[in-house]
Formats: sequence, C-alpha cells, structure tokens
Amino acid sequence: MTEEELKVYLAAAAAGIDYNAPLSEHRAADVVRRLEPAGAGWRALDLGCGNGRLLMRLCETFGIAGDGVERDVAEGERARQRAAERGLSTRVTFHSDDAAGWRRPAELVLNVGAGHIWGDAGQALAALRRLTAPGGKALFADGFYRTAPDGRVREVFGELPDLPSLARAAVDAGFRPLHIAESTVAEWDDFESDWRAGIERLGTPAARSFADQRRDEYLSGYRGVVGFGWLILTPS
Ligand SMILES: C[S@@+](CC[C@H](N)C(=O)[O-])C[C@H]1O[C@@H](n2cnc3c(N)ncnc32)[C@H](O)[C@@H]1O
Repeated sequence: MTEEELKVYLAAAAAGIDYNAPLSEHRAADVVRRLEPAGAGWRALDLGCGNGRLLMRLCETFGIAGDGVERDVAEGERARQRAAERGLSTRVTFHSDDAAGWRRPAELVLNVGAGHIWGDAGQALAALRRLTAPGGKALFADGFYRTAPDGRVREVFGELPDLPSLARAAVDAGFRPLHIAESTVAEWDDFESDWRAGIERLGTPAARSFADQRRDEYLSGYRGVVGFGWLILTPS
C-alpha cells in the first residue's frame, strides 16, 4: 500500500467517527464532569483535537472558551463547521497547526490519543505539565500495554508503558492524578467497528481488504492487550 492510499483510508476512518479513540458516550460525559472548571474564566486547550467534539462538549457544558490545535486540515474544517452549527465559533477557535509549537498555557488541557505529538508518554506528560496553568487540570488519554504484547503487536504500537508506569510518569512530570480509568474492551470493540466502517464505505476491493486486515490485527493481536488509559491530573 502506498502512503497516499493509507492517508485516504485514515481520513475515511476519521470522517465517520465521533471520537478517534475508544470513548463511549458514558465515559465522555464522565470525563467532562470531572474536568469541571473551578473558577470563572477558565480556558480549555485540546492538542491534537481531531474533529474537536470533546473540546466543544466541554466548552458547551461549562460555558467556557477554548482552543483546539489539529494538524490535519480536513479534521480542522470539520471542527470549525461543527462549532458554527452549534453557535460556538466565537468561543472555540480551531488552529490548523502543529501542536508541538503551542506555547500558551490553559487551565484545562486535553490530549487524547495524540501523545505522539511530543514523543513517548513521558515527553507528552512533560509538555502537558508546562501547558497546564497552576491549579488547573489536564486530561491525558493514550495507549498502554495491559499484558505483554507479541512481536507483531509491538511492531505496530512500539514501546508503551503499562498503566502503573503511566501513572508514575504523570507524577514524575509534576502532576497529581485525580482519576485514572481505562477504556473497556466493549468501548474498543465499538471504536474498531466504527473506524472500519468509514473505510468500508469507500466501497473498493482494496479498501475492504485493508479493513479485513485491520479487523484481523485487532481480533488476533491487540484486543485486550493494548489498553487506553484516561488520566485526569492536576499540577502538584
Ligand atoms: C488518534 S487521533 C485523536 C483525535 C482526538 N483527540 C479524538 O480523541 O478524537 C490523533 C490526532 O492527533 C493529530 N495530530 C498528530 N500529530 C499532530 C501534531 N503534531 N499537531 C497537531 N495535531 C496532531 C492527528 O491529526 C489526529 O487527528
């Protein structure tokens, strides 16, 4: 498969899903509730925000303003369109930029499935710590190994921590964990099916074969092995 074909598939998958992460409605509501601002004037920042849905939900729920930073232009466009539809354009701004260059701290900092912006989890947490204003909160959500991966899974996902190491990395970066949870296998199953559905909709034999391959990699490889942690943190 060429890089161009892969790009088309990834874009098709992203276009058809609410969140580009194993995130149920229930967990999205819970995460937002736990991120409740402690003061008037708190601002949210989502780095690698995808279609911006979680950021907008947070800003809408608490009537606050925010910024989303997303490198993918099509995702940024979707986010802006949704913001306009929901009357949020004056409060929530989407920047089509490399989030690694963002320097303005905020009280609520989100980074979901995009720790690779800075490198490994430790580097991501250090960056989030620099960007979280004193007394604020950060949401870091990313992959970890629940059990030892086989060679094929390790090849795809690389070096990941386990959940205790992820929590320790957050502490080492200067955070106190407020809440730690992981996506359930049911959330993963829904996410994987919804993700593949976008590719199936392309309707070509090559797209179908790519979807088949991903399904097999999931079911016989990383299902139950790769976890997705949700860490709500505050600067220590
Ligand atoms: C797995 S998706 C998660 C998207 C979103 N946070 C969500 O949960 O739906 C990762 C996102 O990070 C974005 N991304 C990757 N590197 C980036 C960078 N350097 N700057 C900004 N966005 C980046 C990708 O384009 C993609 O939309």
